[in-house]
Amino acid sequence: MTAKLIDGKAFAATVREKVASHVTRLKEDHGITPGLAVVLVGEDPASQVYVRSKGKQTTEAGMNSYEHKMDADTTEADLLAVIDALNTDPAVHGILVQLPLPGHLNEDLIINSIAPEKDVDGFHISNVGLLGTGQKSMVPCTPLGCLMMLRDHHGSLSGMNAVVIGRSNIVGKPMAQLLLGDSCTVTIAHSRTKDLPGVVKQADIVVAAVGRPEMVPGDWIKEGATVIDVGINRIERDGKNKLVGDVDFESAAKVAGAITPVPGGVGPMTIACLLANTVTACCRANGLAEPEGLTA
Ligand code: GUN
Repeated sequence: MTAKLIDGKAFAATVREKVASHVTRLKEDHGITPGLAVVLVGEDPASQVYVRSKGKQTTEAGMNSYEHKMDADTTEADLLAVIDALNTDPAVHGILVQLPLPGHLNEDLIINSIAPEKDVDGFHISNVGLLGTGQKSMVPCTPLGCLMMLRDHHGSLSGMNAVVIGRSNIVGKPMAQLLLGDSCTVTIAHSRTKDLPGVVKQADIVVAAVGRPEMVPGDWIKEGATVIDVGINRIERDGKNKLVGDVDFESAAKVAGAITPVPGGVGPMTIACLLANTVTACCRANGLAEPEGLTA
């Protein structure tokens, strides 16, 4: 079998178009412009690239982007004061604090200080609890993007065996909750899982989110399975810098029914879903109908 490519780059473009048309409607019909505030503490180069990209895509979708850049030695009190101001600012519908934060700042405390209804990352403990109990919440962007691609490819996911490799709060755990919400039989596998190849072999859907380059080879994959590769790993090969996923694409694509490439798979969906979450938060804040197809 040669797998169908799930083109995240193209899919993300359609999500951004849906977001932009909803933003136009919010402006024209209601005089509301959704606003996203991104807070960056310190000068981590990768974080700076992400934040710039988020700001650019936010304005391209017709929304307002507010960037708050703070020094690496910012105190917890100063950061909390900025978040508090954003929480009460009616022009701000979404707040994202870029992670990782410098070591002296308590990440849980900071994230849980964001107003849950503006928590477009879906990391606040209230949103985690709401998602876990099947209630309306803000859903973490990367798992939401994976879910959208899976629904687009399969239609219904009901009854499918899904294996999520990785148990992070950002991807693995919320991904498992979303798949359970769509009536999959879900296994969360991780570094201590016994017989990981055997566990993966049972899966109709494999979501790999461990951050280990090409860890999942094709011979672990069940014939015809759908493989979603969340990994973005930079490696040296043949003297060149290369981006690879957590799945060995070449061997997996020979067995899978469908697979996301790296780059161009899950990656572009994350910011597209951040924009979608911002529109969703804006609609909820104003008591308006939520955009179709942009939420879980
Ligand atoms: N750093 C890496 N990924 C993310 C993300 O999804 N959200 C935030 N806030 N920081 C990140």
